[in-house]
Amino acid sequence: MLKNMIIAIDGEASSGKSTQAKKVADYFGYSYLDSGAFYRAITLFFKKKGITTANRIDKNDLNKISLNSKYDDGKNSIYLNDEDVSNDIRSTDISEIVSDFAKEKTVREHVYRHLREFSENRSTVIDGRDIGTVVFPNADFKFFLYAKPEIRAKRRFSEINKDDINYDSVLDNLNYRDITDSTRKIAPLKKAYDAHSIDVSDLSIDQVFEKVLSIIEK
Ligand code: CDP
Repeated sequence: MLKNMIIAIDGEASSGKSTQAKKVADYFGYSYLDSGAFYRAITLFFKKKGITTANRIDKNDLNKISLNSKYDDGKNSIYLNDEDVSNDIRSTDISEIVSDFAKEKTVREHVYRHLREFSENRSTVIDGRDIGTVVFPNADFKFFLYAKPEIRAKRRFSEINKDDINYDSVLDNLNYRDITDSTRKIAPLKKAYDAHSIDVSDLSIDQVFEKVLSIIEK
């Protein structure tokens, strides 16, 4: 039997990781996992209980959180205790506090368990911050996407509901999350030594995908 493939696509906030990961999964017929969505779902769980800082987490509560995801026809749905939270986890409120929750060891371990179990029996493309460095250090292919903050903010701003937020707040949030994510003690955002870096600043989605494919198919 052919071995399961793991393809890790890490990178900065809003660098197009999930778009590329889905394209790679579609192309090869692999499963897709958005690790960031799980950090967002855990954050949503605590926020609903009125807890907005990670130092107030009751560790036993994590055992009450089941996470699931379903990728179908280009659409990725995220379930928190069987409830579809795909839209709720993208709100500004969650983006503002998720990186604080993602610093917590117990939160990360909860997500890691899910990612590893899910990809045990199937080839999977996973996007995140520490997939190639910590979660799957032996991944078959690793990519690291980055771009100028202003370009990433412009792209994210074009995707979201403008009534909710303005461009400057989007830029501030991306910068805040990149700094928090790359300076944390556990599993910081950084390029794995053996990852292929791609500066996506001046590239279209298809141009990035061509680069990714050319590396995988070489
Ligand atoms: O899509 P976007 O770039 O906005 O971020 P995301 O992938 O949804 O991740 C949201 C947040 O979750 C990040 O800013 C990190 O704080 C955290 N995260 C992480 O710590 N490790 C991962 N593997 C993925 C996300």
